[in-house]
Amino acid sequence: MADTPGIPNPPGKTRLVQHFEKSEIEDHNEAWANLWDTNNDDMWDRGRPSPALIDLIEKDDILNPITAEGRRKKVLVPGCGKGYDVVMLALHGFDVVGLEISSKGISIAEEYSRKEFLDPQTYNSGPSGSSNTGLVGRGSVTFIQGDFFKGDSLSGEKFDIIYDYTFLCAIHPRMRAQWATRMADLLITGGLLVCLEFPLFKDPGAIGPPWPLQGVHWDLLVEGGDGIVYPSTTPEKVPRVGGGGFERLRYIKPERSYESGRGTDMLSVYVRK
Ligand SMILES: C[S@@+](CC[C@H](N)C(=O)[O-])C[C@H]1O[C@@H](n2cnc3c(N)ncnc32)[C@H](O)[C@@H]1O
Repeated sequence: MADTPGIPNPPGKTRLVQHFEKSEIEDHNEAWANLWDTNNDDMWDRGRPSPALIDLIEKDDILNPITAEGRRKKVLVPGCGKGYDVVMLALHGFDVVGLEISSKGISIAEEYSRKEFLDPQTYNSGPSGSSNTGLVGRGSVTFIQGDFFKGDSLSGEKFDIIYDYTFLCAIHPRMRAQWATRMADLLITGGLLVCLEFPLFKDPGAIGPPWPLQGVHWDLLVEGGDGIVYPSTTPEKVPRVGGGGFERLRYIKPERSYESGRGTDMLSVYVRK
């Protein structure tokens, strides 16, 4: 991975950082697939759906699975990995599409989904055990192998909600403006982009993945910036491109999240204007 101006290499690089610095940005899809094919998905796998997202669904009507017209809302989870959040969302009544660049990842997610639908684990619901499942029934699950950044990967489909966890932080900072533009294209007007913002504890000068994201979502989605947060010593900033078509409706410090967030994760909900 070529160095980004203003972003110094820290000492003690992780396996993941070392893996990606060997390849150019245009080869990163292959680099992700290679990690899956060589059984290195332990580097990011959390083994269960997001507790913060579960709580938002169960406690806040903003994520009601049914529209005012009475149809199920369609949700996209890009870079869905093994599909934990995809399945949990479907168990809460949404029709969900999981998009993943790795064919092996998709096979694992399909198998997980089959088993989980037969006998869902308790971690799919919040501590009170409440979920919408009893009220609205289950939605559907579809897994698609494809590249989020390619227009044809989802056949022009639009979504009511998109959930991003460890997808934005997985891609190179120079792809962030494209991420914001693609998110806007994939959502209906009034659609929601829900982000579990991670990692917020990392030094903004550190390299990834996972790339540090302090202030990045706001810059991209609300201000229409390029999402590149330079250390304050860097004199110049890349001109603003893309994004900016969103307003933030929620910015919550979740009571429950993954240990890996070190107590700093934030859950944000942006509406597509
Ligand atoms: C850090 S992992 C997170 C996976 C999942 N969200 C989770 O929490 O387990 C990032 C995922 O994005 C996938 N990915 C990377 N680039 C992608 C792209 N352009 N389109 C679709 N998926 C991609 C990778 O294969 C990987 O599974």
